[in-house]
Amino acid sequence: MRLDYLLAAVIFGHHAISPCRAASREQRAAGTSYAPQPANCPATPIVHQASSLAAGEFQYISARKPIADAALASWLKQINKNFDTSALPIVALAGSGGGYRALLNEAGMIQAMDSRDSNSSVKGLYQALCYHSALSDGGWLAQSLAAWNWPTISFLRENVYEPRLQNSLILPGGFTVAFAYAQILADVTVKAAALYPVTIGDIYGRLLGYNLFPGADGGAALTMSGLTTFSNFTAHRVPYPIITSIGTNASSNGNCSAPPDAIQYEYTPHEFGSWDKGVDSFVQMAYLGSSLSNGVVAQGTRCTRGFDRLDFVTASTSNIFGFLCGPLYAGATAFAQLADALQNALLEAAGIATTELFNVIPNPFRGYSRATAVTGAKFLALGDGDLSLQNVRNSIVTSWNAD
Ligand SMILES: *[C@@H]1O[C@H](CO)[C@@H](O)[C@H](O)[C@H]1NC(C)=O
Ligand SMILES: *[C@@H]1O[C@H](CO)[C@@H](O)[C@H](O)[C@H]1NC(C)=O
Ligand SMILES: *[C@@H]1O[C@H](CO)[C@@H](O)[C@H](O)[C@H]1NC(C)=O
Ligand SMILES: *[C@@H]1O[C@H](CO)[C@@H](O)[C@H](O)[C@H]1NC(C)=O
Repeated sequence: MRLDYLLAAVIFGHHAISPCRAASREQRAAGTSYAPQPANCPATPIVHQASSLAAGEFQYISARKPIADAALASWLKQINKNFDTSALPIVALAGSGGGYRALLNEAGMIQAMDSRDSNSSVKGLYQALCYHSALSDGGWLAQSLAAWNWPTISFLRENVYEPRLQNSLILPGGFTVAFAYAQILADVTVKAAALYPVTIGDIYGRLLGYNLFPGADGGAALTMSGLTTFSNFTAHRVPYPIITSIGTNASSNGNCSAPPDAIQYEYTPHEFGSWDKGVDSFVQMAYLGSSLSNGVVAQGTRCTRGFDRLDFVTASTSNIFGFLCGPLYAGATAFAQLADALQNALLEAAGIATTELFNVIPNPFRGYSRATAVTGAKFLALGDGDLSLQNVRNSIVTSWNAD
């Protein structure tokens, strides 16, 4: 059966799966919390040159470092009680991409290193980390850890990964499927109605939310900037998250492959931007989506809040739909059908006409002189680092097959 028929059947009421069982009753009104909202702009500049860390990140790391040092010193002393621990480095974990393998591999590694969840000789090293960066499907792991307020991997395995990832990422595992699709439609519809770009990347993000995040609404209200309010974050108990994504050209220009030196963007709880020459700028994460020119909104208009959905960021780091207009995936019919299905059955059903394949953000660096490579662009199109072959794996085709 073609996937789009399957999805259409699920959505439009052939009742392949009963649409309205228990979970649906307690939902928010679909769509209500998903659209970005107008908000007053902050008193501090929204955009700045990439010459220093975000103040929030700096404060976080300053508070985190002594906590991480104590854990690292204790682990080192266990190995060798004479270890000189008077000066310790900042330790970071970088989670690679690679489909479910990446998620599982990174999960296993963190579990082994987590003193709460392990008897291994490396236990306690998770507690010694200052940063945890991830991309692509390693980002699924990092973002699900964050979304649940950094529980143990055992918790996620039992309550999230095993029950929900049994079938397919396009099925909102563990939820009433038809209801979830109806909510996804409502969510992207309100975002489009609020005049923000909506693409297949948004649909994909919402599906990831249902598979990875807490809440009957697939974590629709969670934002990247909202992580700063989570109790383990405010207590500096966890490594600071960084999720990466590369800049691509919008697929509408007919060439959506990305060069090997494509711009490397990062999302943190405080900022979005890039250290790379050509962008060299960051924007406050909470105000991502604002319509800025040279770092400010037009007189008489307001900023945007709520664009930085956790699911959107997770989709942005793992969006490989751009491969569909490159030669490598010409024969990947199942993948093409999946994209078609999402595009036809969900985007078109929401009345949104776009062939854009990437996750799209109103360009925060428009008219900003530091951002020479993107200063003229209205939007930024973002995707998986895999699109510019930046991964450490030996074959991108294998990576899709493994998905
Ligand atoms: C660690 O070992 C103890 C004793 O064998 C066992 O009860 C416990 O389940 C183990 N913990 C983990 C996380 O494997
Ligand atoms: C996060 O907070 C919960 C509740 O206080 C705690 O059980 C958990 O261990 C914390 N996570 C980390 C990584 O410290
Ligand atoms: C986008 O396309 C332009 C011209 O076609 C090219 O110069 C630029 O390097 C491309 N950028 C990316 C990120 O692929
Ligand atoms: C498409 O973009 C890639 C990467 O920027 C470049 O290598 C290639 O030559 C482009 N192809 C066409 C047809 O413009």
